Amino acid sequence: MFENKKIAVLGAGKLGEALISGMLDAGIVKKEQFIATAAHQERLDQIQKNLGIETTLSNGEAVRRSQLVLLCVKPQTVEEVIRQIADDLTADHLLISVVASVSSKLIENILEKPVPVIRTMPNTPCLIRKGMTAISPGRNARPEHVEQALRIFDAIGRSLIVDEKHMDAVTGLSASGPAFVYIIIESFIEAGVKVGLPRDVATQLAAQMVLGASSMVLETGEHPAKLKDIVTTPAGCTVDGILELEEGGLRVTLIKAVVRATQRAKELVNG
Ligand SMILES: NC(=O)c1ccc[n+]([C@@H]2O[C@H](COP(=O)([O-])OP(=O)(O)OC[C@H]3O[C@@H](n4cnc5c(N)ncnc54)[C@H](OP(=O)(O)O)[C@@H]3O)[C@@H](O)[C@H]2O)c1
Repeated sequence: MFENKKIAVLGAGKLGEALISGMLDAGIVKKEQFIATAAHQERLDQIQKNLGIETTLSNGEAVRRSQLVLLCVKPQTVEEVIRQIADDLTADHLLISVVASVSSKLIENILEKPVPVIRTMPNTPCLIRKGMTAISPGRNARPEHVEQALRIFDAIGRSLIVDEKHMDAVTGLSASGPAFVYIIIESFIEAGVKVGLPRDVATQLAAQMVLGASSMVLETGEHPAKLKDIVTTPAGCTVDGILELEEGGLRVTLIKAVVRATQRAKELVNG
């Protein structure tokens, strides 16, 4: 599907690099097919060193030489970059945006021509092909464009199509979420150290346990509450731990974190 297609990655920062690495690793695209941009030459040198792909400081050049454009700049920079590339984009391009907060309508309105736009919200585990990406086609995106987006994001994790009205919520949950889970894992590690485990042992136990529990939810399709009940033996140790979690307000704290991140996602486009 991507054979002979050149892919421009505009704003190859943390997420852009994760997406390129994931796609290379998945074997769906070759190094020679990428052309990446950034604001500073130092970042391009780093990208060249890390990934060995072609780079340029010119967004316009990258777009003119490509058929697929991955827009990975910050929300505050989107308008400037879209105006910069508007003349170079055509209806034969596909523009896939990973930018939080920025609607496909906003991009389409700046472009004022029928360029197919797809808004997506991936997360950094795309780097190791364990990403989660939500996809919303814009008004000019046809089924073959959606197919291309699914092909990319399925190769570097899971993906699903959502109504664009849910994109800020997706941002607060699965895009910000890895940071929340790293804090939870870090806390489990500290807990392991507190009860006498060596740090490296506690790290493996905590991270593999979180991976296993996530996989149980995804692979069994069971409700997490049912899976929790299976671990919780009457008068056992788990129920004592659960009491502490409830008293500490873990559920409410996590819900509030996602709600707050979702609210912030709505504001990002304005700075
Ligand atoms: N990080 C995540 O987990 C995540 C998840 C989902 C979506 N996103 C979205 O992905 C986007 C990028 O996030 P990030 O975390 O990767 O940020 P980042 O690391 O700061 O990357 C942004 C990149 O844009 C480049 N840039 C700035 N102005 C530019 C311009 N005019 N033309 C071309 N490139 C330019 C920067 O170049 P320099 O390095 O040279 O300054 C930088 O490399 C954001 O819109 C964010 O909402 C991020």
